[in-house]
Amino acid sequence: MKTLRLFSFTRVGLAAGLFATIALVSGTIAKPAAGAMAKPNAPTDNGGASNVGEAVCIKCHKPENTQFSHTLHANAFRLNPKNEKEKLSCEACHGPGSKHIEDTEKRGLLVGFTKEWGTPVATQNGMCLQCHSGGNAMHWDSSAHGRNQLACSDCHNPMAKVSAAGLLKKPTINETCYTCHQQQRAEFAKRSHMPLPEGKMSCADCHNPHGSTSKSAMKSDSVNELCYNCHADKRGPFLWEHAPVRENCLNCHNAHGSNHDKLLTVARPFSCQQCHGNTNHQGPLYNAGQIFGGGAAPNSRALGRSCLNCHSQVHGSNHPAGARFQR
Ligand code: HEC
Ligand code: HEC
Ligand code: HEC
Ligand code: HEC
Ligand code: HEC
Ligand code: HEC
Ligand code: HEC
Ligand code: HEC
Ligand code: HEC
Ligand code: HEC
Repeated sequence: MKTLRLFSFTRVGLAAGLFATIALVSGTIAKPAAGAMAKPNAPTDNGGASNVGEAVCIKCHKPENTQFSHTLHANAFRLNPKNEKEKLSCEACHGPGSKHIEDTEKRGLLVGFTKEWGTPVATQNGMCLQCHSGGNAMHWDSSAHGRNQLACSDCHNPMAKVSAAGLLKKPTINETCYTCHQQQRAEFAKRSHMPLPEGKMSCADCHNPHGSTSKSAMKSDSVNELCYNCHADKRGPFLWEHAPVRENCLNCHNAHGSNHDKLLTVARPFSCQQCHGNTNHQGPLYNAGQIFGGGAAPNSRALGRSCLNCHSQVHGSNHPAGARFQR
């Protein structure tokens, strides 16, 4: 987490600083009018510039145009533009270019999406959100990524076809996320994990990188609803419910990875004993001989599946006599 926090801190500091400076100089942060909210991500006109058309841009930016021509945007904007905005091509994203052509060195006259160019993140994102504010990006402003001043172009590269889908910056979704989320990379490398490193799942199966109304940008209302999407057998309904399962799968499992089998947060039997340990056979095994044999018979509470040797239906049971989850 250290790298991530460090990263987000500098990023916020930098972006906020830049934004504040520009706002001070140009006085662009007006107080929101009564009844209206200030739009955090508004498109810009590059200091009053006008559109020149892509043919002009391409004269000086041939290599960029060659790469761009292979993308979905180029196809959509050139072959089948749905509105005036899309017809603008380059200038739909970079803003009107007349002033940039007059002075190609001066940075405030065009929206650039590279760090070196220095356009404030909110302005960059405002260009993309002109067309992509609905649907999946609806919760962008309140998302952790939005609040931490991530740019759309931290994950997307609309200028080149790097990924098979999604115009991502890296060939796959997972690699895109791993550029910042090293801790989650480590978690998925543990002994027990869902088949994400094997390429059968992605972070975006469970998270919406553009934010959602749930905790941790989950793609569902609750952890359990998320898990039921793929593990429908755990949804029930069961005649005999096990309370902690109904409450939250993460009472016993990690979502990303664990060194205990079956993604358990704690090894068995301790996993069960966190909550059950008061009576009879549920509690600690006092005698090492009970665990390893040592003369007496090995104890079935410690070996193999441990408590589940007998309580095998720990997620719930539909058997009339399954109150103790033994069948
Ligand atoms: C006369 C040549 C010329 C024309 C025409 C021109 N540019 Fe540029 N553009 C440049 C040069 C030179 C730079 C690099 C300036 C620098 O790095 O200091 C540049 C920089 C840029 C950048 C910033 C790249 C970065 O580092 O992020 C973008 C984006 C860009 N141009 C887009 C456009 C678009 C869009 C048009 C058409 C509206 C356009 N340019 C027209 C010469 C031109
Ligand atoms: C859909 C939005 C979009 C459109 C349309 C678009 N660009 Fe870009 N452009 C970007 C983004 C985002 C980047 C930053 C890419 C990155 O992260 O390297 C970029 C980067 C650039 C750069 C900097 C060099 C580079 O490749 O990183 C230049 C120059 C540029 N664009 C010119 C153009 C020209 C010329 C066109 C039209 C032919 C165009 N762009 C169309 C979004 C767009
Ligand atoms: C003028 C409108 C417009 C702007 C501005 C724009 N886009 Fe798009 N974008 C489109 C259209 C049209 C498509 C084609 C797919 C569709 O119809 O939704 C698209 C598709 C995409 C896709 C989906 C690719 C896929 O494989 O499904 C991504 C990602 C994307 N845009 C990101 C961006 C980013 C990032 C920016 C800003 C740098 C941006 N767009 C700016 C109109 C726009
Ligand atoms: C943290 C990384 C990340 C950031 C930041 C990000 N995206 Fe995405 N975006 C993705 C991923 C990953 C996908 C592919 C999702 C999938 O295939 O399920 C995607 C898909 C999309 C799509 C394709 C259609 C859709 O909605 O699934 C659009 C459009 C898009 N993003 C626009 C944007 C815009 C606009 C921004 C900035 C406001 C942005 N994205 C910021 C990671 C990101
Ligand atoms: C450019 C860096 C960067 C990239 C790339 C990135 N993230 Fe993040 N992510 C962050 C930062 C910064 C935070 C906020 C972390 C914090 O507050 O500690 C965050 C937070 C999150 C959170 C927690 C959200 C919450 O509401 O608490 C999730 C989930 C997440 N990211 C998923 C993803 C996924 C999925 C991808 C890939 C599609 C991705 N991230 C790519 C930087 C990034
Ligand atoms: C099987 C679903 C699933 C997958 C796949 C998944 N996550 Fe998560 N993630 C979760 C759940 C569940 C949480 C915790 C939700 C909560 O806060 O209760 C979470 C939490 C997070 C958080 C918040 C901090 C934390 O660790 O609790 C980040 C960041 C995150 N995930 C990033 C990622 C990234 C990056 C990937 C891909 C490498 C990924 N996740 C893949 C389900 C998933
Ligand atoms: C997008 C689909 C998907 C979602 C959502 C999902 N899983 Fe999984 N899960 C899988 C797949 C695929 C496997 C591997 C199944 C196999 O190997 O037979 C798996 C395996 C598991 C395993 C067994 C791991 C092992 O080591 O054998 C556990 C435990 C698990 N998931 C728990 C969860 C929990 C808890 C959630 C919710 C946070 C969740 N899953 C959400 C797809 C998903
Ligand atoms: C009380 C602790 C506990 C809770 C809560 C719990 N599980 Fe489990 N889960 C286990 C144990 C223990 C195993 C290992 C079972 C075995 O060895 O047969 C397991 C195994 C699994 C497996 C892999 C084997 C199988 O049965 O398919 C999946 C998938 C799984 N759990 C999903 C979930 C989901 C989804 C939830 C939330 C609805 C959940 N679990 C809640 C304890 C729990
Ligand atoms: C997060 C706490 C928690 C964990 C972890 C947990 N349980 Fe439970 N368990 C409960 C609660 C609460 C009940 C309901 C108790 C009641 O109704 O009196 C329950 C009920 C039971 C019952 C039925 C007991 C009865 O009195 O009806 C059995 C058997 C059981 N659990 C076994 C297990 C096993 C085996 C594990 C380990 C895989 C486990 N539990 C893990 C909280 C937990
Ligand atoms: C050898 C089989 C076996 C093993 C192993 C086992 N149990 Fe039990 N458990 C039982 C039986 C039999 C009952 C009583 C069932 C009844 O009354 O219907 C029971 C009942 C329970 C109950 C209900 C309350 C009570 O004490 O009567 C809980 C909770 C429980 N076990 C938890 C555990 C935990 C935790 C473990 C692991 C440390 C465990 N069990 C291991 C057989 C076993």
